[in-house]
Amino acid sequence: MMKVGVLISGRGSNLRSLVAATKEPGFPAAIVIVVSNKPDAPGLDVARAAGIPTAVVNHKDYPTREAFDAELDAVLCRAGVELICSAGFMRILSEGFVEAWRDRQLNIHPSLLPAFKGLHVHERVLETGCRITGCTVHFVRPAMDEGPIVAQVAVPVVPGDTPETLADRVLEAEHKLYPLALRLVAEGRTRIVGERVEIDGLPLEAQAPLFVPPVS
Ligand code: GAR
Repeated sequence: MMKVGVLISGRGSNLRSLVAATKEPGFPAAIVIVVSNKPDAPGLDVARAAGIPTAVVNHKDYPTREAFDAELDAVLCRAGVELICSAGFMRILSEGFVEAWRDRQLNIHPSLLPAFKGLHVHERVLETGCRITGCTVHFVRPAMDEGPIVAQVAVPVVPGDTPETLADRVLEAEHKLYPLALRLVAEGRTRIVGERVEIDGLPLEAQAPLFVPPVS
């Protein structure tokens, strides 16, 4: 059973999907702590309702990024965390922290990386006129929204979409994708080869993307 620490900053809907998955019998990972950098993050209530220990490491209480990251690291280590899942965690982590957790930290991002890194993803997808967008779970590297891709879901952009309707459709896909990606990693089925993720020895080209059809 892999011990997971989930990092959040807000609503925690991805956390909710991870909690639900990890409570299923036979799931190969358990969430041992949820850490928020914001004391009022609604996601903390999701954890509390599920009986999962929580911690707040408020970035405003630390003079430097490194001091904040050192405390975050200490909290995760004390809880026995083996794998971090960032789920809407909106702080940039220092290179030292990221390297200390190399290949042991996942992140979910609401685009088909490497396209649309950063913020305001759905606005930019709509401005660009993309017909397809999606979401990505990847191992974390020091550069923001970069790192070996574990799994992706493609999601269509449909006529009349606003950033909000698109975000909702992508979020629904995120909730399916993150538990699946966590399962693959926790079962030891992923290997990082040359900054690409191989699953169970399957060549990358043989890993079909997941696809969520348009809502009618
Ligand atoms: C999710 O859409 C997640 O992909 C995104 O923030 C949202 C958090 O929602 N993360 C990023 O943009 C990170 N670059 P949640 O708190 O309901 O899970």
